[in-house]
Amino acid sequence: MDYERYSEGLIDYALGSSPLGQPAPETVPPIPPGRASRAPAGKLKDTPANRALFPKVTPQEKFHAQSLLEDAYYSDDYSLLFHGDVSEKLQLLANEGVKVDCIVTSPPFYGQRDYGVDGQIGLEPHPGDFIASLVEVFELCRPLLKDTGSLWVNLGDTYWSGKGAHKSAESKQGARRFGLRPQDLPGDGKWTRPKQLLLIPHRFAIAMQDAGWLIRNDNVWVKPNPIPDQQRDRCSVSHEYVFHMTKNRWYYYSQEPVGHKGKNGTVLPPLDTWVVPPSRGNGAHRAAFSEELVRVPILGSTPPRGIVLDPFLGSGTSAIFAKRHRLRSIGIDLNEGYCLEAARALAPLEPPGCLST
Ligand SMILES: C[S@@+](CC[C@H](N)C(=O)[O-])C[C@H]1O[C@@H](n2cnc3c(N)ncnc32)[C@H](O)[C@@H]1O
Repeated sequence: MDYERYSEGLIDYALGSSPLGQPAPETVPPIPPGRASRAPAGKLKDTPANRALFPKVTPQEKFHAQSLLEDAYYSDDYSLLFHGDVSEKLQLLANEGVKVDCIVTSPPFYGQRDYGVDGQIGLEPHPGDFIASLVEVFELCRPLLKDTGSLWVNLGDTYWSGKGAHKSAESKQGARRFGLRPQDLPGDGKWTRPKQLLLIPHRFAIAMQDAGWLIRNDNVWVKPNPIPDQQRDRCSVSHEYVFHMTKNRWYYYSQEPVGHKGKNGTVLPPLDTWVVPPSRGNGAHRAAFSEELVRVPILGSTPPRGIVLDPFLGSGTSAIFAKRHRLRSIGIDLNEGYCLEAARALAPLEPPGCLST
């Protein structure tokens, strides 16, 4: 691969067809790997690391396969949105042979919310069952993710309370709590005992490692100025995790759009602590991502004309961010109200330099 000619747009990106025209101007091609992996005269050596920088583009015909369009709740040139259970819809996508570059998602956190739909994940009686449900979902994601792809999972933790159903009519508490949550049950006296921080993000990451995923970072999302916890005997929680995982040692990663400039102009990697104010939820979704939280995952691990998948799409943050950057996306959610909210946000969006197809 001749990197100079590639980056000047003189040769086409990767080997696949060009469903959406020329590479998006705002998605920067990957930076050339270090000298060690470059042959003389600007040519890249044929190495697994270099090959991973040029993943094959999933053709638009695959993305817009008839069976997918028929099942979709909403679709446009850049977006496919499915209303239904995550496992069922992932299976549908796998049957069609769809391949995505980046999976970024915030699954329901354990015992935090009742999304009001049968089959929802997050209210399993024991946190171990919750972790098993999540690992099962991401195992279904595995065949959809290209070998060069990345999986990014945002997870926060939960304390066991063991206090029984919430009694106070106090408004804020009442809004956050919804009757008898799993963590309000008596517990096993060990892992699930009152005041215990369940360490769900860590246990999930270890379970994913055991399932064969490669953990690249446990990025910490730091929330500035959070509403303090009403606790007298511990620190107030103000962070969540965003795990970066891959299938393989060599994968697509573009530091250019996500890194920061060092003193001599070289691009340094982004830090693994991300200070991002929480989204205050503009729409109906009370646990919506902030778009800033999907910036590094999507821009860092989705090549031009790539596809982003969010299997727990909620109000559509990842799909909206992808479309704004002329990247395609697939979203799934069990709650029809959130699908409607996402579709309403996506429909009027015109990506910059949009080519009518
Ligand atoms: C934390 S929220 C995602 C928020 C999203 N990142 C956003 O920006 O709005 C988790 C979502 O998972 C969905 N969900 C829960 N169980 C599901 C299941 N079994 N299949 C599909 N979606 C599910 C919920 O409806 C909820 O919208």
